[in-house]
Amino acid sequence: MKDTDIQTSLVAAALDARLRAYAPYSKYTVGAAVMDRTGHITSGCNVENASYGATICAERVALTRAIAEGRDGFVGMAVVTSDGGSPCGVCRQVMMELGPEMRVFISDSAGVVRSTSVRQLLPDSFDGSGLLSVQPAPHDFPLND
Ligand code: THU
Repeated sequence: MKDTDIQTSLVAAALDARLRAYAPYSKYTVGAAVMDRTGHITSGCNVENASYGATICAERVALTRAIAEGRDGFVGMAVVTSDGGSPCGVCRQVMMELGPEMRVFISDSAGVVRSTSVRQLLPDSFDGSGLLSVQPAPHDFPLND
């Protein structure tokens, strides 16, 4: 598939998903869509909560939904907002974990305002490579079951 076709179909899917955003508190609606190696697209929208910290961003809904569907090898993501807003830090970390090779198309309601990549959005990221060398701590107290 041509790069321009990938971009066009991702933005269309993100625009559509944005219509289903649940954002009664901020009124800031966000749509996202990811494409896997086969060209399959999975979308997401932001889903807010009265307990504000329980809100989940559109990018993470799209990616976690795609993972749950068994998708992998993500090649691109589109994010659509009213003003071409940029993905938040938590979403960038999740994008790096699940789709480090993705192109990222940041769009407003009229179209793409910035074409970038996950690596550009999150340089020098924590990648967990140091975690493998950490030994589990021995239990120094009896465990109750
Ligand atoms: N939001 C996203 O969906 N993605 C981002 O990258 C930034 C913020 C949502 C979360 C919340 O529902 C609203 O936008 C305002 O922060």
